[in-house]
Amino acid sequence: MSGSNTEIPAFYTSGSNRLPIEGGCVKQTHAIFPKPSGLGNKEDNRHMQRHSMHDDVERVLITQEQIQLRVQELGAQIADDYADGAPHMITILKGSIPFIADLMRAADCPLSLDVMAVASYAGHQSSGEVRVTKDLDESIEGRHVLVVEDIIDTGLTLAYVMRILANRAPASIRIATFLDKPSRRKTQIKADYVGFTIPDAFAIGYGLDWNQRYRNLPYIGALKREIYEPT
Ligand code: IMP
Repeated sequence: MSGSNTEIPAFYTSGSNRLPIEGGCVKQTHAIFPKPSGLGNKEDNRHMQRHSMHDDVERVLITQEQIQLRVQELGAQIADDYADGAPHMITILKGSIPFIADLMRAADCPLSLDVMAVASYAGHQSSGEVRVTKDLDESIEGRHVLVVEDIIDTGLTLAYVMRILANRAPASIRIATFLDKPSRRKTQIKADYVGFTIPDAFAIGYGLDWNQRYRNLPYIGALKREIYEPT
């Protein structure tokens, strides 16, 4: 299944509020925030004028509903594939937090979890320099490792992580990535499980950030270019 299309019916859901999006762009986004009660007129106006993170989305790439469905499919596939040996899921912080949280609950099989943190990105360009800022708590020797990533872009980060992990003698090692951006690949790396393949846009939401922002966007959006490349 590919997420590269933008024909996606787009809306943002907040409680019972459904906000239509025209042409993939979020409209009147301030309206999605419930108005705090008990505010006077002045505070009311300020609240309504607040800049919303949805305003920075150029277009919706993958909706919440599509994410939910696809993660369920991936979880079921993983549970089938690992019927003979529990996967030891290793997730790379921080972008994969929503994905691993959903994926592990969608996989109806015994599994274990560990986390690793690496630093590879400054702004929106991959630096190619990767360093481990938090290593694993447990040994992976003899275990069936499933590395869970948010996105593979150039592949430099994951190639580095895979080299480290492969040296620790796991029984097997596979990759699950929520997003794949193959057009920008600089390595041979390929994932065994891919949520969505996306075009060359700067993706935000569902854990993905730009300068630590937008991780809490509940869908995947393309960030407006003028935000990461101001003129
Ligand atoms: P890579 O080394 O170029 O494959 O990039 C790996 C990391 O860069 C990912 O784990 C993300 O944290 C970040 N990254 C790459 N592309 C994007 C994007 O489109 N949006 C947000 N973060 C990204």
